[in-house]
Amino acid sequence: ADLPVDELIASIAVDVPDFPEPGVVFRDLTPVFADAGAFRRVVDALTEPADVDPRAAALSGGGPGFDVVAGVEARGFLLAAAVALDAGTGVVPVRKAGKLPRETVSAEYALEYGTATLELHTDSIRPGQRVLLVDDVLATGGTLQAAIALIEQLGGVVTAVAVVIELAALGGRQRIAPHPVHALWTT
Ligand code: PRP
Ligand code: ADE
Repeated sequence: ADLPVDELIASIAVDVPDFPEPGVVFRDLTPVFADAGAFRRVVDALTEPADVDPRAAALSGGGPGFDVVAGVEARGFLLAAAVALDAGTGVVPVRKAGKLPRETVSAEYALEYGTATLELHTDSIRPGQRVLLVDDVLATGGTLQAAIALIEQLGGVVTAVAVVIELAALGGRQRIAPHPVHALWTT
């Protein structure tokens, strides 16, 4: 029988102590993405929350619950494109500062190890568009909080937030509230 997806991820992900700085245990998901079967299971599972989030269901009338998938640079890109292709939607990149060529909205934020700025093209999300926001790791939540703020600034509706790993001790879920977070593995 297939392992539950959380056990599958836990069995393949690699913990790296003191990366990128002392005191941080880095959860390396590259071996999960490199494994064809595990990548398939992860991508399938990430699309699920948008089907069950009551706000998404109310807005969709029974459809997939989102119109577009947004992914956060860089690791979120690997997931968001695969999820979008599967769901039959487009994909929108939320990028680090200075990468997008046209008019953007931007937000500074702090993450588990440092600070950064995220940007989104102002015409990449239309008012009322329902967005599934995807990333690999939820740590402090600073990254996803900034991405949500940008999407909402453009009038988008974040109907679901999906991550592969939630590091519960860092409180990211509380920071993202009231947006529900669908985590495939909470640790
Ligand atoms: C990592 C990870 C998340 C974020 C989570 O990205 O991919 O986006 O940190 O941390 P937080 O919840 O504390 O904000 P990172 O900024 O390291 O960039 P990368 O994907 O380019 O490696
Ligand atoms: N992003 C923020 N914190 C992280 C961690 N501990 N492992 C992997 N990615 C992260």
